[in-house]
Amino acid sequence: MPAMPSPAIQARGVTKTFGRVRALAGLDLDVARGEIVGLLGPNGSGKMTFIRTLAGLIRPESGSIEVLGRSPSRAVADGQVGYMTQAAALYGELTVEENLRFFAALNGVRAAGPRIADALATVDLADRRTSPVNTLSGGMRSRVSLAAALLHAPSVLLLDEPTVGVDPVQRREFWNHFRSLAAAGTTILVSSHVMDEASRCDRLGLIRDGAIVAEGSAARLVERAGAADLESAFLILAEASR
Ligand SMILES: Nc1ncnc2c1ncn2[C@@H]1O[C@H](COP(=O)(O)OP(=O)(O)OP(=O)(O)O)[C@@H](O)[C@H]1O
Ligand SMILES: [Mg+2]
Repeated sequence: MPAMPSPAIQARGVTKTFGRVRALAGLDLDVARGEIVGLLGPNGSGKMTFIRTLAGLIRPESGSIEVLGRSPSRAVADGQVGYMTQAAALYGELTVEENLRFFAALNGVRAAGPRIADALATVDLADRRTSPVNTLSGGMRSRVSLAAALLHAPSVLLLDEPTVGVDPVQRREFWNHFRSLAAAGTTILVSSHVMDEASRCDRLGLIRDGAIVAEGSAARLVERAGAADLESAFLILAEASR
């Protein structure tokens, strides 16, 4: 019998402190391949810190993390991980296309031209490809960041609040795209404060003070909290975990 494929993401007892701040306090989370998992939690609860450990940018003090069955840095070096940061990390003086060329080169993307054209079409910015990034609106910059994270067709996509400042039409387009990526096997971990977005995930993890305090589908969390909707469930479950 073939071995079960390892989960795309497996985190066990992950801890990380910054000075006196305990950003991650024994975080456990599994994400299956092709699954979309949302990470919800208050400001400062550790979402970015956890995502950065998966992107190989922070080494946990204890616990273990595997991405596609190997260390995060290995998975990143193999081009398997895409990371869209919370604040767009782009070069303002460079055009949209120049930024994407830069990220393509950084990620060793071959035949970058067609990939860049695809990514620009996905985020509907083909007509702004020669604009310097610092002349774009905030939402457009987020869209360029997403395009940059998609260029090398990563198997695991880490999205830190990807639709902040993005208009409803584009947000729906983003989610249609996330769904089709997941259907093709891409695993997506997405942090968000937007409940509409959270309800589109296959599963949610509620994070508080650096640990997952509740997880399950949106419907399951609403039921468990005895709440009317996801936002109330989130407030009830976060309060109950204090
Ligand atoms: N590089 C760093 N140096 C010092 N402290 C940090 C650093 N990165 C994160 N922290 C701290 O760790 C805690 C968790 O921060 P993190 O950015 O992971 O939260 P978050 O859940 O993404 O919050 P938000 O919803 O506001 O984006 C916070 O107290 C933050 O100040
Ligand atoms: Mg954050």
